[in-house]
Amino acid sequence: MKILVTGGAGFIGSALVRQLVLQGNEVMTVDKLTYAGTLTSLAAISDRGNHQFVKADICDRPAIAHVFESFRPDTVMHLAAESHVDRSITSARDFLDTNVLGTFNMLECARGYWESLSAPAGARFRFLHVSTDEVYGSLGAEGAFTEQTSYDPSSPYSATKAASDHLAKAWHRTYGLPVIVSNCSNNYGPFQFPEKLIPLTILSAIDGKPLPVYGKGENVRDWLFVEDHVGALAIIAARGRVGETYNVGGRNERRNIDVVKEICLRLDHLFPQEKSRETLITFVNDRPGHDFRYSVDSTKLEEELGWRAATSFESGIDRTIRWYLESEWWWGPLRQTYDGRRLGQLEHAGP
Ligand code: NAD
Ligand code: TYD
Repeated sequence: MKILVTGGAGFIGSALVRQLVLQGNEVMTVDKLTYAGTLTSLAAISDRGNHQFVKADICDRPAIAHVFESFRPDTVMHLAAESHVDRSITSARDFLDTNVLGTFNMLECARGYWESLSAPAGARFRFLHVSTDEVYGSLGAEGAFTEQTSYDPSSPYSATKAASDHLAKAWHRTYGLPVIVSNCSNNYGPFQFPEKLIPLTILSAIDGKPLPVYGKGENVRDWLFVEDHVGALAIIAARGRVGETYNVGGRNERRNIDVVKEICLRLDHLFPQEKSRETLITFVNDRPGHDFRYSVDSTKLEEELGWRAATSFESGIDRTIRWYLESEWWWGPLRQTYDGRRLGQLEHAGP
C-alpha cells in the first residue's frame, strides 16, 4: 500500500508510521515539525527505503498538491493537528489554522487528486480523518459516547476538531470523496510530548517536581495504549465503510488522581525513596471548561471490523514509564523548548 500520513512526526502519527513502514508499506510522512513534532520519533525507521519525509504545512496548497501528484497515495491517514487542550485555551489561532483550514486544504487536495484517478484506483482510494472523542463533549457519571452521540465540544481544541470532522463528512456527502472518520479516546505511550498528563507526570516525578492535578482530580479519561489506536487506524483505513464514523476506546476509565498515584507508586517501586512521590501531588486551579468524563463505546469497531484493544492499562503504563526512564535522548531536547509550565489558565475569570 502507498500511504500518506500527515502529522507522522507527532506522538500517534510516529507510532503509526513506524508500524506501517515495518509492515512493508510505502509511506510518505508530511509534517510541519511544530514544537510537537520531531524526526527523532522516526529514528527507528530512518534507514528504511520504503519511507519518505516531507517537511510541509498542511495549509500550504501547492506543497500538498505536489505531494499528492508525486507520491500518488492510495490511502491518506490525516493526523496532523494542534492537539493540546490547554494550549488551545491560551492561544487558539494555530488550532483554527491547522485543524480547520489545514483539514480543508487536505480534503481539497485529496479531491483534486482522487478525481484524476482511473475508476479502479478511485474506488480503492481512502481518506481516513483521525479525530477525538472530545468532539462529543462531557459525560456525567454514567453512559458512553457512541457514533450517534451529538457533537458538543467544550474547548477550542475540540471545537476545531469537531469542525474538521464535519468538513470531512461534507466532502464525502457533497463530492463523494471516500472519507472515513475515527474518534478516539485519550492515548498514552512512548514518544508523547511531555505536556499531556501522563508524560508530564512521569518526567516531573523523576525530577522531584510538583505534580499538578487540576481541580480535585476526579475527572475521568478513557485511556488507550497508542499501539492499540494505531492498530485500529490500520483496520479502519483498510476495511472501514466509506462515509462512516468509528469510535475507538480503551474501555479503561480512570480518574486523573488515580493515574497520577499509579505512576508515583510504580516509580517508588522501581526507585525507592525516603518519601513517596505521592507527596509531590499538588491540586491546582481547575481547567476552564474542563470536561468531566469521557468514555467511548467501540462496539461498532469491535463487531464490524473485529478490533480489540490488546494492552491492559497495567502493562501499557509499565511500558510507558520504563520507556521514559530510558529515553532522555528523546525527551531531553524537547524539554528545552517546553519546560513543563502550566498552560491554559485564564487571566480573568469568565462571566
Ligand atoms: P501531536 O501533537 O503529538 O502531533 C501532531 C503532529 O502534527 C506533530 O508532528 C506536528 O508537527 C504536526 N503538525 C501540526 N500542525 C501541522 C501543520 N500545520 N502541518 C503539518 N503538520 C503539522 O498529536 P497526537 O497526539 O499524535 O494526535 C494526532 C492526531 O490524533 C490529532 O489529529 C489528534 O486530534 C488525534 N487524537 C489524539 C488523541 C490523543 O490522546 N493524543 C486522541 C484522539 C485523537
Ligand atoms: P491531557 O493529557 O491534557 O488530555 P485531554 O485534556 O485531552 O484529556 O489531560 C488529561 C486529563 O488530565 C484532563 O482531565 C486534564 C488533567 N490534567 C491534570 O490534572 N494536570 C495536568 O498537568 C495536565 C496536563 C492535565
